[in-house]
Parts: sequence; structure tokens; C-alpha cells
Amino acid sequence: MSLKSKIIELFTRKEKISTGGGDKAIQKQVAMGKLPARERLKVLLDPNSFHETDLFVEHKCEEFGMDKKQLPADGVITGIGSVHNRPVSVFAQDFTVAGGSLGLMHARKITKVMDHAVRMGIPLIGINDSGGARIQEGVNSLAGYGEIFYRNTMASGIVPQISVILGPCAGGAVYSPALTDFVFVVDKISKMFITGPEVIKTVLGEEISMEDLGGARVQTEITGNAHFYAESEMECFEQIKRLLSFIPWSNREKAPLVTPKMPRAQFDVERIIPAETTKPYDIRDVIKSICDDSDFLEIQEKWAANIVIGFARLNGETVGIIGNQPLVLAGVLDVDSSDKAARFIRYCDAFNIPLVTLVDLPGYLPGVDQEHAGVIRHGAKILYAYSEATVPKLTVILRKAYGGGYIAMCSRHLGADFVFAWPTAEIAVMGPEGAANIIFRGEIAAAKDPDTVRKQKVQEYTEKFANPYVAASNGHVDSVINPYETRDALIYALKASANKLETRPNKKHGIPPF
Ligand code: HXC
Repeated sequence: MSLKSKIIELFTRKEKISTGGGDKAIQKQVAMGKLPARERLKVLLDPNSFHETDLFVEHKCEEFGMDKKQLPADGVITGIGSVHNRPVSVFAQDFTVAGGSLGLMHARKITKVMDHAVRMGIPLIGINDSGGARIQEGVNSLAGYGEIFYRNTMASGIVPQISVILGPCAGGAVYSPALTDFVFVVDKISKMFITGPEVIKTVLGEEISMEDLGGARVQTEITGNAHFYAESEMECFEQIKRLLSFIPWSNREKAPLVTPKMPRAQFDVERIIPAETTKPYDIRDVIKSICDDSDFLEIQEKWAANIVIGFARLNGETVGIIGNQPLVLAGVLDVDSSDKAARFIRYCDAFNIPLVTLVDLPGYLPGVDQEHAGVIRHGAKILYAYSEATVPKLTVILRKAYGGGYIAMCSRHLGADFVFAWPTAEIAVMGPEGAANIIFRGEIAAAKDPDTVRKQKVQEYTEKFANPYVAASNGHVDSVINPYETRDALIYALKASANKLETRPNKKHGIPPF
């Protein structure tokens, strides 16, 4: 055969495999509002940047008539492409081929690009759209999942791992996304659950739709499993690209520097912070008054909204921001917000992203529900994560910083490098009302007019302790700053921390309160 004929044969073979499950299956995929797997990669990656690997891989299963079944590319497309002109490792499960089900060779294609991502120091992006373990392959498909989970764990903290749920992600398959750093879901398309509606009906006798069980809203608002929610696949791919613009490609480097831009004038602290200290405001407006171009990428926006986390830039450099949200539950720490913040802090620390903490909270949320849900164990995670982190840690206390909340929100005592406080800061063991009622209980009870005495005592306590100056006089706060100087103070602190080197005692690993 001539070279030309060989090339034509290669082309024909590639064409045949690239049609996946065929026209009918692709039409079904599109009718469900889903893009075919190859189209998805086209939208996600830079134009013409995709280099496919393992197109010719075939399954080795001979059971249940599988010896006669050809599964193009074994139901998953893998390779290297680029986003923002930088390489990324990708896989996209192809639901048109045996429901994107995962057999051993399918898994091995995925683990190959995972290994490549770790070796090369580039992100891994996985598009999940699968009926789960390929039933005909039995334990071999379970082995495949195990090999993926192991690599997810090994890659954790080395390269960013992004999971995109664009179809079913059922059974044990959910644990790969759960082990990754960022999970993206799309309305009406994403479905994630351990046990499906059929099993629930059989075992528990309850009827529930896939959507209500583990749809995109459930995963972003109730469980916190997903970090980003989109209305459409196209919006989802844009969100992924935006996230990738903020983060470094691996733990060996820093996030890319971007030309700095001043915050937009509409975010003016004087207009954001109410004069009355008990009135709430939106912490996101404060973040936008500080960061470059008022551009803030919020993560897990709809879950545990009493704490806000996300990426922004200061003078062109990416920072991870953690801020109490006075608009929701007065910004208290509770089970979910502690989990949310702790995980984000560990992400930033692993990937050389400095932490900026904005403090305004009355403390940990009291109540039987929280105690029984394990607020002690979960609340400890944030203490652990901040203490363990060695990236630059910058803290600004805006208003309330009471009790355990003061300590937990990256206080000097957990290793903050710079602690700034606004003149509106109130740093104390507890709020003036509670404090006065306890320490002046006898005096108030014995008074002829207890209410007047109580008010006096609250006033006395407020004047004495509900300010930043006691903490500043002890060196727990480095500077009390004009709120308008916050951005400049943080930029100066970042510059001063550029060569920060902090070591930790030698050990295999700690035991965080998981
Ligand atoms: C083999 C599968 C499959 C699977 C789907 N298919 N899931 N083949 N193994 N797990 C095949 C179907 O037979 C069908 O093939 C094609 O994919 C499309 O599936 P449909 O059912 O027609 O699609 P749809 O109606 O959209 O329903 C999608 C679905 C459903 C909800 C995902 O297919 C389903 O319930 N699948 C089984 C899910 C499941 O129980 N998975 C195992 C979970 S246990 P044809 O040839 O007809 O086109 C698990 C353990 C992992 O994953 C543990 C890891 C630790």
C-alpha cells in the first residue's frame, strides 16, 4: 500500500471512531439539551489546540456479548489542549457510546491524562457524562474507578483538578469529582447522586425525581458539592476559563500576573458600611471596593452564604479572599461556613495564593442544632487550615470580631502576617450587651432602675472594649487604618510578604479535624 493510501486509511479510521455512538445517539444527546463530547472540548479549549490521545483504545471485555460490540474510543475522549494559550489535560466522557459507562480501558485513558497532568504540572479538566460503572465489565470497572480516585488524591495540591458534570454522574462515580478542587454544574443537565431514584423507591418507598435528588441547584445550594452553577453549557465553559485566569497551573508556580486596574468608583466604603453598627451590608461590595477592577470571582455563592470566598486581584496578583457576610446570619461561623472556608484556605495555601481575610462576625453560631451537627469538629477545621497555611496571611477587621470568631478569622495568634483594623472595629470577648449582663449582673440586679444601669454598663463596656485600640495597644493589631487606605495597606503588605518563607515541624502529615 502506498503512503498515500495508508494516510487515507488512517483518516478513514479516525473519522469512523470520531463519530462516537453514531447519528441517532448524537441526536438523542442534543435533544436532551447536551452538547456532544467533542463539541464540548471544542468550546472549552483554544481553537485547534486539541491533541487527542488513545483514540484507538478498545475495551477487552468478552462477557454479555461485549466481544461483538465496538465502543468507539471506549466512550471517552482524552488528550491535551490549551486554555489561555497554556496546556491542560482533558477528558470528556461520551454518553453516546454505551452511556459513557466506565470500563477498565476507559478508566486507563483517563488515568493516563491524569498522570500526564501531574508530570507536566498542568491542570486536569474532566467532563463527566456517564451511566457509571460499565455493568458488563464487573469488578474491572470498579478497579478503574479505584485507579482514578487514587490519582485524584495523589494529584491533590499539585495541579488544579476541575470536574464538569454534564449529564449523569451516579453511584461511586461521584467520588472522583468529590476529590477534585472545583465542581461545575449546569441547570437541568447535571445529575449527581450515590443512589438513584429507582433504588430509593425500592428501599425507602419514596418517589423523587433525579433533579430534586441531585440536580444542579441541589448541589450548589443544599449540599455544597458543586462550586459553580451555570444556566447553560456555554456559560459553564466561560466560567471555567474565568477560573483558570485566576489560578496557577501547578503548585510549582504562582498565579499569572495581570495588569492592575483600580476598583470602580461606585464601590465606596462610606456608602457601603451603615453608620449603625447593628445594620448589615454586603461584604462583596467591600471586596469590590478593594480589588482590581472590582472583579471578584465568588465560589460556592449559594451555599453557606454567611461566609464569602473567592478570587480577586490586588495590584495584578491573585489573592484568595475570605469574608464574613453580615447579610446572612450576621456572618457567624457555623458547620457549613467553617467547612467552606477551611477547604478554600487549604486550596490557596497549596497553590501559593496569599490569603486576605475580612472580619465582621459575632462568633460561632449558638444552638442545639449546631452543637449536634458538630460545630466543634467542623469549626476546628478553620482554625487548623489558617494555622497550617504558610502563604502570606493578611487580615482586616472591619467591625465585630468577638470571641472564638476573632481568633478563628486569621487572627495574629493563628499566624497572620499583617493585621489591620478599621476604627469601627470592635474586638472583644463578646458583644457589649452580653458582656455587661454577665460582669455587672449583681450591680444591675441590685439597682433601683436595672434598665438604666444596664444601659450605662453596656455603654461603659462599649467605650472601654468595643474598639480596636485595646487590641492595638497589645500588638494584636498592627495598625488601625482609615478604611479608604485598605487597598493600599493590603498591596503594601503583599509586596512586603513576596519572599515569605515559613517552615513547619517535620512530620508525615497532620491530622486535621476532617
Ligand atoms: C453499561 C450502560 C450503563 C452502564 C447506561 N448504559 N449505563 N451500559 N453500563 N452503567 C447504556 C445503556 O444500556 C444504553 O445502551 C445507553 O448506555 C444509553 O442509556 P439509556 O438508559 O438509554 O439512557 P438514559 O435513558 O438517558 O438513562 C441514563 C441513565 C441510565 C439514567 C444513566 O442509563 C441508567 O440508569 N444507567 C445505569 C446507571 C447505573 O446504575 N450505573 C451503575 C452505578 S454503580 P444502548 O445500547 O441501549 O444504547 C456504579 C458503581 C461505581 O457506578 C462504584 C465506584 C466506586
